[in-house]
Amino acid sequence: MRIFIKNIKKLINVRESTPAALIGEQLGVLPCLEDAYLITEGDEIIDFGEMSELAQQQLSAIEESVDKVLDATGRMVFPSYCDSHTHLVYAGSREMEFSDKLRGLSYQEIARRGGGILNSVELLHNTSEESLLEQTLQRANEIISLGTGAVEIKSGYGLTVEDELKMLRVAKRVAEKTPLTVKTTLLGAHAVPTKYKDNRSGYVDLIVNEMIPAAAAEGLAEYVDIFCEEGFFSVEDAQRIFEQGIKYGMRPKVHANQMSFSGGVQVGVKYDAISVDHLEFTAEPEYDLLARSNTIATLLPGATFFLNMDYPNARAMISKGVKIAIASNYNPGSCPSGDMKYMMALALLKMKMTPEEAINGVTLNGAFAMGLGEKFGSITIGKKANLFITKKIPSYEFLPYSFTSQLIETIILKGEIYG
Ligand code: NIG
Repeated sequence: MRIFIKNIKKLINVRESTPAALIGEQLGVLPCLEDAYLITEGDEIIDFGEMSELAQQQLSAIEESVDKVLDATGRMVFPSYCDSHTHLVYAGSREMEFSDKLRGLSYQEIARRGGGILNSVELLHNTSEESLLEQTLQRANEIISLGTGAVEIKSGYGLTVEDELKMLRVAKRVAEKTPLTVKTTLLGAHAVPTKYKDNRSGYVDLIVNEMIPAAAAEGLAEYVDIFCEEGFFSVEDAQRIFEQGIKYGMRPKVHANQMSFSGGVQVGVKYDAISVDHLEFTAEPEYDLLARSNTIATLLPGATFFLNMDYPNARAMISKGVKIAIASNYNPGSCPSGDMKYMMALALLKMKMTPEEAINGVTLNGAFAMGLGEKFGSITIGKKANLFITKKIPSYEFLPYSFTSQLIETIILKGEIYG
């Protein structure tokens, strides 16, 4: 399929090439073209430019050669969002804990009572793979309609070899049944299962000796993750899991410094994690370390909001040269939303990021935080034709500003019009 989009009011995040994640001041620069066109062929962007570059004859020739012409007068075209941290595969919901939380219980207190992640573990264990897939596909289609085109999906509500693999299989099937591009992460170390409550190292043995090899044997995970936090897993656990994961071709990611200065950033950087995520509890030592590393700092403002916590200091991170991505963390416990536009609004309002930084954070740097920077996250010739056309809007700032309005009119994923 060849698609020609013409008269685009503004084409957003236009780049000739994208060699690496954006850093420091680069994050605040959002290259755009006004009164633009874009052409896709197959699943790729093959051309774009300003309408004024096209002579009338050329314009007619293009229109005749394509399968579809879309007139985007008054509308903007964005690269699809790249959501690099989600727990999209889960069973049921946890709104009753939400009420507990409103009555004053903390995330950790709820977890200590056997709620939280372990609650989702129980629900998932009692759900068949087919039903889990059906529930997950609803959320997958929801995030597509909100503008997401590529997504990282973690396991972590299984906590047995069988159930972790079940989750990862479902995540892989999401990629077959929808136009989403999916990267998968084994998060066996999300919580210590009840059976091992007095034997955490025994559970880490299971992850190292059975879960990682089994996930690798079926080619189910590109990354390996751990919730490195007091009451969950230690830095030493992370080391063991990362060493084994790396042997099996899984690059680390870390749930780091969410509830305390856990050492998660340090161990992530030591093992060249592709990203360390959350980072509510970070300061100068973490910023310095991250600035000197290849690791991307993924901020999850939806979870910070939902757990009523203090936000990470994004301004300090940016000025120190830390590479920042923004992701949704869609999950049933700390952020039941995959709305990247809302994440951008929070990034602006709560972390004092600029609209340009937020847009780069949810597109190009999000892509790099899941190893997709070469092919996703910007309008670049040769990249995947993953984009959305907005409704008529006055400016790109209007997206995070108008944070509950549905502003997307047309979605193109892998070069096909969705819906
Ligand atoms: O990224 N922090 C750990 N994991 C998730 C929450 C999972 C849950 O509560 O179900 C997170 O916030």
